[in-house]
Amino acid sequence: MSLSIASVTFEHHRSALGIGEPSPRISWRFDGTVSNWTQSAYELEIQRAGEASTFRVNSSDSVLVPWPADPLQSGEEATVRVRAFGHSNQPGSSWSEPVTVEPGLLSADDWQGAVAIVSDRETEVNATHRPIYFRKDFDVDEEILSARLYITALGVYEAEINGQAVGDHVLAPGWQSYTHRHEYNTYDVTDLLQAGDNAIGVTVGEGWYAGALSWNMIRNIYGDTLGFLSLLSITTANGETIYIPSDSTWTSSTGPIVASEIYNGETYDSTQEIEGWSEPGFDASDWLGTHEVEFDKSVLAAPDAPPVRRIEERKLENVFKSASGKTVLDFGQNLVGWLRVRVKGPQGSTVSFLHTEVMENGEVATRPLRNAKATDNLTLSGDDQEWEPSFTFHGFRFVQVTGWPEETELDADSVTAIVINSDMEQTGFFNCSNPLLNKLHENIIWSMRGNFFSIPTDCPQRDERLGWTGDINAFARTANFIYDTAGFLRGWLKDVHSEQLENNYAPPFVIPNVLAGWGSAASIWGDAIVGVPWALFQTYGDKGMLAEQYAGAQLWLDKGILRNEAGLWNRSSFQFADWLDPLAPPDSPGDATTNKYLVSDAYLIHSTEMVANISAYLEYSEEAEKYAADRVNLTRAFQRAWISNNGTVANETQTGLTLPLYFKLFAQPSHYTAAASRLVDIIEENDYKVGTGFAGTHLLGHTLSQYNASSTFYNTLLQEDVPGWLFQVLMNGTTTWERWDSILANGSVNPGEMTSFNHYAVGSVGAWMHENIGGLKPLTPGWKRFAVDVRVGGDLTSANERFVSPYGVVESSWRVENGLFRLAVRVPPNSEAVVTLPGMTRSGRKQVTVGSGVHRFESSLG
Ligand code: BGC
Repeated sequence: MSLSIASVTFEHHRSALGIGEPSPRISWRFDGTVSNWTQSAYELEIQRAGEASTFRVNSSDSVLVPWPADPLQSGEEATVRVRAFGHSNQPGSSWSEPVTVEPGLLSADDWQGAVAIVSDRETEVNATHRPIYFRKDFDVDEEILSARLYITALGVYEAEINGQAVGDHVLAPGWQSYTHRHEYNTYDVTDLLQAGDNAIGVTVGEGWYAGALSWNMIRNIYGDTLGFLSLLSITTANGETIYIPSDSTWTSSTGPIVASEIYNGETYDSTQEIEGWSEPGFDASDWLGTHEVEFDKSVLAAPDAPPVRRIEERKLENVFKSASGKTVLDFGQNLVGWLRVRVKGPQGSTVSFLHTEVMENGEVATRPLRNAKATDNLTLSGDDQEWEPSFTFHGFRFVQVTGWPEETELDADSVTAIVINSDMEQTGFFNCSNPLLNKLHENIIWSMRGNFFSIPTDCPQRDERLGWTGDINAFARTANFIYDTAGFLRGWLKDVHSEQLENNYAPPFVIPNVLAGWGSAASIWGDAIVGVPWALFQTYGDKGMLAEQYAGAQLWLDKGILRNEAGLWNRSSFQFADWLDPLAPPDSPGDATTNKYLVSDAYLIHSTEMVANISAYLEYSEEAEKYAADRVNLTRAFQRAWISNNGTVANETQTGLTLPLYFKLFAQPSHYTAAASRLVDIIEENDYKVGTGFAGTHLLGHTLSQYNASSTFYNTLLQEDVPGWLFQVLMNGTTTWERWDSILANGSVNPGEMTSFNHYAVGSVGAWMHENIGGLKPLTPGWKRFAVDVRVGGDLTSANERFVSPYGVVESSWRVENGLFRLAVRVPPNSEAVVTLPGMTRSGRKQVTVGSGVHRFESSLG
């Protein structure tokens, strides 16, 4: 009967150093097996400048409670502890561990005269930008108590103080719509400084800021000169603060990184390394000067998302020769990141690494990369050296190596793959008795990791890696279970909204928008501005965040969508619609079997319904009524346009039936039953092969389960032929693919231009697995009340699923034994579960509501 506080967090931050909220809301999760525990009150103790204040609040809220004290100031540190009280006869928790919170620089004036600076070096603007090294010496006479570095770049940066790396971020500050929101990072650098002489160095690469982006390889989207802005703030023992701002007293140079581009890779010449350049006493007399450039500090923002980091190392599995005799490394897993290389070879000789996802005809397959060169070139120093690139990343499993020196064995000691992505907390864990489904789930996780790289991308390898809105709209429900995406998507959605305001209120197809001028409004992709906030709300229950996202959702409906006289989509509007329908020709992925406007209209109505619901949650009653009425009228218009009087849909395809069933667009109850049975029939006639593209795939399973046809979906999910999820697994996929058959059944690579091996949309089936095999899903937004409703089916005999909810660990674990269904459920304190059993229990009940604790159930199989 234990109870304790497992974690205390602020807003949606994993680490609360350098946050942007002066009055951050506070949440705590519980640990322990205490039964039927609900909170009656909580106490917060906040320590500021050595003084503690306590706040006791009678409330059952334990998620995102308001900051009870005066707002924090820029750079002010506070330490917070929490304890929670139960109702009569129930234990309370003891105090949590203390957790610190500290805002970054909350206003532009806090930058203490720091200005954005660039090098005096003359550069060619319309070419790859060579990374720039910046440095400055300074001394500190006093003993140092603490120090913070606030920094961002016109580009991507790495910083060093006295020869040591600052922090562990990769490609910081990540990618935002920089003209609207440009993130800076905050680091605790106390331990890197010393009393006396010090030096600071910053390297800046072009990154997304000035590098070539999209298949059009457009450069300099945000600016054409690399630079940075920083403020080092040092508090000394005598209470004084010393500031070292970026300004024109810094010097600049070039160094060993000759080129580093997101798509093309990095070229590093070790013979140009500059020994000691970020250490005090370095002779920088031949370095160039720097000068200030205009920079609008009002767009500076503290990050919402966790930083991109090195997350994992992957051992080399195999070295082999390609058909033409080239040396190829195989890491056994399609992943995103880069290589760490330990090598010694002739000074000045160059080793090249070409990264690809698959092999084709015995050679590394570069065709799917399109214009991305994905090649790192390392010119050797002549000594033992260890190297990793800085300002690029690759999506790869295979690496073709040329020029590797004889002196070093090419093996698992000399090359390691470093897996890199946004460092979110994993919250969802799935396992069942079918190993192929487990592998599929692993692949879904790998594709999520590879594409949650500062922004939600379509793919991580070719000349795109862009924030395609339709992809995350399909995948958000799955993503939010597997990782805590709240901060990550919160920041990105701010950019969706800013960019929509510059695109006639329609979210551009990719955010940040680098395809300006290409297309305007499209369903599903544009609907992400409603669907992603709604999915986030289901998981995190954050009304504050929902309110922040409301204006964007509303503007999309009111002004962004191009409508016809009936209020449905304009029939000449551009649409992706059921993109990548498996029956669409490989070279024309938008040529789907379901009418574009049927699909688009269905999503339009669904978005209208979500905005009506969001309005109701936010207590905007007038809007709630208006959108609910719109929904009714649009549904009638939809029926007139797409459904005959007897309930037949204009396209009786898998997507054509799924959408009106799931979004509730039929006129009569009998039409639902009939349409559901026709959907089952056409799937059966299609040998349980998937017939849906982006629009239908993520909803197919949920729809079938809703109409008591889970067994049909099990057959589809377990289908081993193409198109189907397990085909990819059986073809040795280690991620989810863009196409059902990115590798064709004959083993060759799909000839289509869109052939990525790392796209997450197909993985949106994860949500069905979580909600039906593991059986877990929220019933009220934020998991205060959740369902455990396992659909036993297929050949499955057991499953185990865990989710770290805002309240603590939720778990379901079941097995079928001797015709009996046995289930164990763990419910975290301060929440409750509605457990539905597949058959009758001995007490004759099929549904039970239980409070916190571990509960066991047994029922017949129904
Ligand atoms: C991307 C997709 C994206 C699509 C839009 C592709 O190139 O990789 O995932 O949503 O374009 O049509």
